[in-house]
Amino acid sequence: MPCTVVTGGFWGDEGKGKIISYLALKDKLDICVRTGSVNAAHTVWYQGKRYALHMVPAAFVHEKCRLLIGAGANVHIAQFLEEVETTNVKNRIGIDHQASIIEEKHSMQDKTRAHLKGIGTTGRGVGPAIEERVGRTAKLAKNIPELQPYLADVAKEVNIAIEDGHKTVLEGTQGFMLSLFHGTYPYVTGRDTSASAICSEAGVGPTRIDNVLVVFKAFMTRVGAGPLPEELTKEEALKRGWFEIAAGTGRERRSSPFNFELAKKAVMINGATQAAVTKLDILYPECKGARNFDVLPEEAKEFIQKIEKQAGIPVVLIGTGPEALDIIDRRK
Ligand code: IMP
Ligand code: MG
Repeated sequence: MPCTVVTGGFWGDEGKGKIISYLALKDKLDICVRTGSVNAAHTVWYQGKRYALHMVPAAFVHEKCRLLIGAGANVHIAQFLEEVETTNVKNRIGIDHQASIIEEKHSMQDKTRAHLKGIGTTGRGVGPAIEERVGRTAKLAKNIPELQPYLADVAKEVNIAIEDGHKTVLEGTQGFMLSLFHGTYPYVTGRDTSASAICSEAGVGPTRIDNVLVVFKAFMTRVGAGPLPEELTKEEALKRGWFEIAAGTGRERRSSPFNFELAKKAVMINGATQAAVTKLDILYPECKGARNFDVLPEEAKEFIQKIEKQAGIPVVLIGTGPEALDIIDRRK
């Protein structure tokens, strides 16, 4: 804190939603800015209820947190309005007037263009919407009647908040290996997903950032096409308990063991200062619900220590269950 960028270290679905919801509650975040778009779903479990958020920032669980969607984001109007209802955040959420709009036609283009089908996009139309923005013909939030009550100058608001020492999180979406620039091109998303790009989408300069928290899962998963080192068969994934279904699209996720080389690369290019590792309890079931590092089995401790050694940064948060507060917090 005060300004932390939360970024995904692998292919998305590392558990950023869980980590951000924990920070929101524990640190009483003042402000959270979401970037990206509806292709990403951030899962938050709170008070026994599950939320799969495509638009609303995951910090909504702290009732005093101001929620913002940055100028670089792509807003799906119906999805936004629906989530505002289900999370009951109408009076504390804002959208930058220059955020662009994603429409049904973009989703159709995602699903019908052959090369995009081959990439296995989420089908939400984010790539085509970004193309339109690059072509400078996109619709912006400021031109949409239903969004008028939510319009904000997000860059200004967040920079003032940081200046005033308010606890701020910039919420990255998707994962580093899906970056248009640094990922497994062409099997990537339509934007850079690195910490620098998250800052840029929110309108915050690099000198304003105190922490870059990279989130890894204890094993890796990937949806859609593209390389995944040491990929397991579905059978093996089921046996290990690593088999997952995507929160956003219902697609099956492929899985593979934690890759230290990829983690190192993610730490380097994101300039990460700290790491979080989620789902440690899936790898080592004895860890389930643990809130203290000392009680972990030796094997689990060694795994975390190996990540720290190889990546060169401390693992400060460890997920041990789905609920927001199922976390070992090793921050000072
Ligand atoms: P697009 O972002 O919908 O264009 O999809 C491009 C690639 O990124 C596909 O392989 C998708 O499965 C993947 N992808 C996009 N967003 C996410 C996400 O939030 N989590 C996991 N994979 C994603
Ligand atoms: Mg997800």
